[in-house]
Amino acid sequence: MSMTGFDLSFRHLRSPYITFRFEFPTQIRRKITCTAIRPTICSTSAPSTAVSDSNENHARTSYGRRMSISMIAFLLPLHQSMQHSSANANAADDLLLLQEEIRKVLTKGKAAGVLRLVFHDAGTYETNENSGGMNGSILYELDRPENKGLKKSLKIILEAKKMVEETQPVSMSVSVSDVIAVAGAEAVSLCGGPKIPVRLGRLDSMVPDPEGKLPEETLDAFGLKQSFKRKGFSTQELVALSGAHTLGSKGFGNPIIFDNSYYKVLLEKPWLSPGGMTSMVGLPSDRGLIEDDECLRWISKYADDQDLFFKDFKNAYIKLVNSGAKWRRPNS
Ligand code: HEM
Repeated sequence: MSMTGFDLSFRHLRSPYITFRFEFPTQIRRKITCTAIRPTICSTSAPSTAVSDSNENHARTSYGRRMSISMIAFLLPLHQSMQHSSANANAADDLLLLQEEIRKVLTKGKAAGVLRLVFHDAGTYETNENSGGMNGSILYELDRPENKGLKKSLKIILEAKKMVEETQPVSMSVSVSDVIAVAGAEAVSLCGGPKIPVRLGRLDSMVPDPEGKLPEETLDAFGLKQSFKRKGFSTQELVALSGAHTLGSKGFGNPIIFDNSYYKVLLEKPWLSPGGMTSMVGLPSDRGLIEDDECLRWISKYADDQDLFFKDFKNAYIKLVNSGAKWRRPNS
């Protein structure tokens, strides 16, 4: 059968030293197999002397060895690449199945809580300590004050996980961290945000992460920048990820629509208006961002250009859900 660069048919050769031949497409085959076939063809003609026979055998033997080695050197990467593409196909199927089950239990009203859960699982990551990160440890951290209100979001995650495991005929063991990562991405797209591809294969931690690693809501821009830097994120990524607060009840536009109104509202500083609900808009950390020149530059860009916000949010989200993750197949 012919494939993109190679002919994959194996043939039996007459030479005892080469048990199969790997066929290349015509042009490459001409260069390589001609030399491979020659000793075999010679062996069909009658040997003239014992010396020439033994020379020929020797040539054939060393030739055969060389070919076997070069065949292995050639076939091994091919075999690995075929295994790799089959693993990729399985991962794509697993992702589709997981997305399907998540969509059955996720609603727009629950999207904000699920997206917040992503940050509270992954945001514990500290690069210098190599601790925390996207590892499902939130399961053991629900009693911490910063995680108040996340129980119901985790319930959705566990429901989707159970459904995937029941649906999958050959038990597909999906980690809590994978389900949280995919559910957060689904929450964003369900509410009109960008579609975010999520890699599967995270391993879950069996213990809670160290305490006090999530940024506090009372931090100013300097504190937030420091905190995000320790997690490997730039100021631009801090501003892009904070756009998640467009969902939920903090007053940045429609609570179930993921768009760039977070940045538009920040620029208006409604909390400065006296009285009324506007004074309730945003957390101190949100309000702090706009007082910092570097953050303000990104806030203005994202307020002007929703596509840019979606692109940068997508990339920062992918980085967030891979933060500190330990992988089942590290190099896949
Ligand atoms: C920059 C540092 C951050 C701080 C200090 C912070 C803090 C908070 C706080 C205090 C709330 C209110 C929770 C409540 O209503 O009880 C909240 C809500 C939320 N946070 Fe953050 N957050 C931060 C970054 C993030 C990031 C990076 C994401 C996701 C990528 C995120 C997603 C959310 C969402 C979606 C909500 C709304 C939840 C709801 O209304 O149910 N946050 N955040």
